Amino acid sequence: MNSAVERLPDGPYDAVWASPGRVNLIGEHTDYNDGFVLPFALPHSTVVGARRLDRPEWTVTSEQTGETVTFGPQDKVDGWASYVAGVVWVLREAGHDVPGAALTVASDVPFGAGLSSSAALECAVMAVLLDLAGIDLPMALRPRLAQRAENEYVGAPTGVMDQSASTLCREGHALFLDCRSLATEQVPFDLAAQGLAVLVVDSRAPHAHVSGEYAARRRSCEEAAKILDVPALRDIDPAGLPAALERLDDEVMRKRVRHVVTEDQRVLDTVEALRAGDARAIGPLMTASHASMRDDYEITVPQVDTVVTAALAAGAHGARMTGGGFGGCVLALVDADRCGEVEAAVRGAFAEAGFTPPDAFVVTPAEGTRKVG
Ligand code: GLA
Repeated sequence: MNSAVERLPDGPYDAVWASPGRVNLIGEHTDYNDGFVLPFALPHSTVVGARRLDRPEWTVTSEQTGETVTFGPQDKVDGWASYVAGVVWVLREAGHDVPGAALTVASDVPFGAGLSSSAALECAVMAVLLDLAGIDLPMALRPRLAQRAENEYVGAPTGVMDQSASTLCREGHALFLDCRSLATEQVPFDLAAQGLAVLVVDSRAPHAHVSGEYAARRRSCEEAAKILDVPALRDIDPAGLPAALERLDDEVMRKRVRHVVTEDQRVLDTVEALRAGDARAIGPLMTASHASMRDDYEITVPQVDTVVTAALAAGAHGARMTGGGFGGCVLALVDADRCGEVEAAVRGAFAEAGFTPPDAFVVTPAEGTRKVG
């Protein structure tokens, strides 16, 4: 597939910005618990070209489908264009004078694969509109605004990870983000130097009940925090976990809490290993994260479990599902010269199980939101 920049129809545009999709190396369902995450940006991105209009109206055209949606300041938009209208809404809510614009969108971020195609769209639209308006809003302040657009306008109760990754990631680095303070550290993640690679396998499992299950997990965590009398599950550390679990009657809730608390610690351990320059050491942490998502958070499906099992059997150092769950992609940490073998093993396991064949590609950490025209 051509890159998103190549796919964007010819302008003229007053500005063109690109924002990437992401994978999360580790730290799943921790962001809305005020915890830690460690995503990096994909080379795949969404590109938005904008031309200023002299009236308070926005049109957005998808290069892929040719569809154009038009909306005014008071309109409630549904479907894919709601991510665009949500950004216009949130910028206006924050008091910014957003000029009307004709937007054209092209993307090579796979849709529905858990790679944050919606955050990429939100972040690129925000960047291009701020540029048209001449507003120099610091990058660090943008993820919360984009998250608010998704939570309050689109109506999806997601955390702040995806918009942070799409906005703030740096090439060659993973983004260590404290989702409470929003403090960040760019952690060098140069796998090639250590003879390693990250293979992304899209399980292509049909997503079902995703948003309902996501909201239920979030609710369960918030109820647990209330019972445990802490602001968020982030405030329970591994040493305090056994005592916290004893105070919860509900077995399902205990499992959810155990995932979040142990997952936060795995992020911290992963960052330590990367700071020490030992990328191989993160393999077991990734695999433990997957087991926790499978057994305690119960958000995996047979296809992603099969990818993980087959990849590990073929020699991957670690493997885990990435993203919200119920399908989507698996990351496998593999010796760079064994990617083909691992991919072949996964394909074989899928054929045997009768699953739709997966997609697979090797990724290196790319740059976050940037101006491309
Ligand atoms: C989705 C959400 C994120 C995060 C992940 C799970 O990608 O958008 O905020 O909660 O799921 O880690």
